[in-house]
Amino acid sequence: MTRKACVIGWPISHSRSPIIHGYWLKRYGIEGSYERLPVKPEDLSGFLARLRGNGFVGCNVTLPHKEAAFRVVRTADAATKKLGVVNTVFERDGELWGTSTDGEGFIASLRNDLPDWQVKGRTVVILGAGGATRAIVGALVDEGAERILIANRTHARAEELQRDFGPRIEPRDWTEAPRLLGAADLLVNTTSLGMTAQPPLDIDLAHLPASAVVTDIVYTPLETDLLKRAKARGNPTVPGLGMLLHQAVRGFELWFGTRPQVTPELYDLVAADIDPGYRR
Ligand SMILES: NC(=O)c1ccc[n+]([C@@H]2O[C@H](COP(=O)([O-])OP(=O)(O)OC[C@H]3O[C@@H](n4cnc5c(N)ncnc54)[C@H](OP(=O)(O)O)[C@@H]3O)[C@@H](O)[C@H]2O)c1
Repeated sequence: MTRKACVIGWPISHSRSPIIHGYWLKRYGIEGSYERLPVKPEDLSGFLARLRGNGFVGCNVTLPHKEAAFRVVRTADAATKKLGVVNTVFERDGELWGTSTDGEGFIASLRNDLPDWQVKGRTVVILGAGGATRAIVGALVDEGAERILIANRTHARAEELQRDFGPRIEPRDWTEAPRLLGAADLLVNTTSLGMTAQPPLDIDLAHLPASAVVTDIVYTPLETDLLKRAKARGNPTVPGLGMLLHQAVRGFELWFGTRPQVTPELYDLVAADIDPGYRR
């Protein structure tokens, strides 16, 4: 029987998920399909109600549906309950369940690129407190980060993360960010600054220790200016595309029954779609 999955969003044309899941379906010889479907916000609950009837074993949920889908499906785990969003929906025992895989994607990408580096006991500086930050903060807390300093333009959003994730989260002013870098074992950019067609992330790295790991969840461009500057001064860097690839692993396993691998070949495939001039 052919198993069908999809990604839904509004708009949806930018999603790279079909490339990722299509690659795995082929690699593992699974009879299945994964399509991209535009679903308007007002059609979301009806779409999910008909998901199984339309022959789908599940779907990925992207902007702007992550919160609305959370309210429609059953929540699969405590971590997702805390996030209030789902990006992966699957069917079990006749019901629709939802989970969030962004946090594990973030951690898996770090582990993949820096296998000897541990989050436990470290100080993390995060720039930004938007939608993607919640999952990353949740995962960093679960991994045992000691302090998580969050500088965001809108201070209240960083305070909200402290309220939800506890005293290890320290909200800081956006203007403080360059100085905070002095304490960082890990620096994470979760703002949209530095993304193609967005303003640059102008942050002075002078205080950043040379050993600090720098990661940027922005993956268009593949190597952001932040990563370039960090690499030039000798910091280990982890690009954002790895998080996107690793967050897809659990959904594929839930729908198609095989835990897939994020291979260099897959990385190259998606990287070349983002930047046709990409060379490993
Ligand atoms: N690698 C992956 O798998 C992955 C996954 C998810 C997202 N992403 C990428 O992560 C980025 C953020 O996504 P998101 O969904 O979290 O977006 P979001 O909810 O819109 O949050 C945007 C963040 O950027 C900050 N920001 C925007 N413009 C700014 C400016 N001019 N100055 C200072 N801060 C500014 C916002 O601050 P305020 O709170 O003050 O507005 C907020 O913290 C996007 O580039 C997205 O593509 C990557």
